[in-house]
Amino acid sequence: MTFGIMADASAPAKIIFSGEHSVVYGQPALAIAINLRCHVKITKDGEGLLITSKNYIQKYYYSTAKLENVLSGKIINSKLDNIAMAVLTVFKPNEISHKLEINSEIPIGAGLGSSAAVAVATVTAALKIKGQKYDSKIISDKAFICERIAHGNPSGIDNLISTYGGIVRFQNGNMIKLDLEYEIPIIIIDTKIPKETKKMVELVKKNWKSNPEKYNDIFNKMGTLTSKIEKELLNNNLENIGYLMLENQKFLEKIGVGIPNIEKLISNLSKLNTFGYKITGAGGGGAIIVLMKNGDTKEAIKIVETLGYDVYETKITNLGVN
Ligand code: MEV
Repeated sequence: MTFGIMADASAPAKIIFSGEHSVVYGQPALAIAINLRCHVKITKDGEGLLITSKNYIQKYYYSTAKLENVLSGKIINSKLDNIAMAVLTVFKPNEISHKLEINSEIPIGAGLGSSAAVAVATVTAALKIKGQKYDSKIISDKAFICERIAHGNPSGIDNLISTYGGIVRFQNGNMIKLDLEYEIPIIIIDTKIPKETKKMVELVKKNWKSNPEKYNDIFNKMGTLTSKIEKELLNNNLENIGYLMLENQKFLEKIGVGIPNIEKLISNLSKLNTFGYKITGAGGGGAIIVLMKNGDTKEAIKIVETLGYDVYETKITNLGVN
């Protein structure tokens, strides 16, 4: 039943502070919701599903027949089927007569969880416009269906953190929220080297299959690092965390998800007042997180900008989907 003609929702981006990739193999990961959001508005309008966006993707129209195909697992538009699926987790194809507007602050393909945020916000707006009861678990589970379309074999951490917000320790589908009384001084550098999470997850799987013993050992060590980072986060020991991030970065490079030609950026990072840095998300491109030594990140941001990268000063947000 339709109670309204318009519904909107927004959901945050995330950084993986530790444990990307190894989390797919059952190890723990730490994720943090950050203050960049994806806003979605759904209006009852026309027939089928029209997706539009100011700054994210092109306009695309799904007829009822196309929506039926997406539901049955066919690829109609590889970049947008995950978003169509978000509406299809709530409505049957022949019930869909909606316009979906996306307005996202989250850079796409940077490893900051843009696809999860759009799925979480879209599922929520669709549930609202349908007038269906929901809770965070329902939203996150439905968004996970969309994430599987976008990323093949994801762990589920991205949809979860975007739904719940805050800081989360995630392992095998279960989460614990961590309470921090302080802001972690992180900047995010988007290298603007395009990457696809799906491809990176597949690459790591291929490497793992070629030598499971070696990779299981690395994933175990990455899991241990994540637990150490969690402990140091709770102790507010940024220096130790920075050291552990650098260790983590070495493992990410070992499993094949390093960022090409990153040396120039890294050598310039040494001029900054940093404790450590690492890839965040799927790697192979996308974003790096840098832990700063003091709260004043302005100088660092200037240096990074002059190198031609996009840079974001990050605040943790406890506001998940809204
Ligand atoms: C992507 O944000 C994190 C990965 O570990 C994939 C996943 O956990 O689904 C690379």
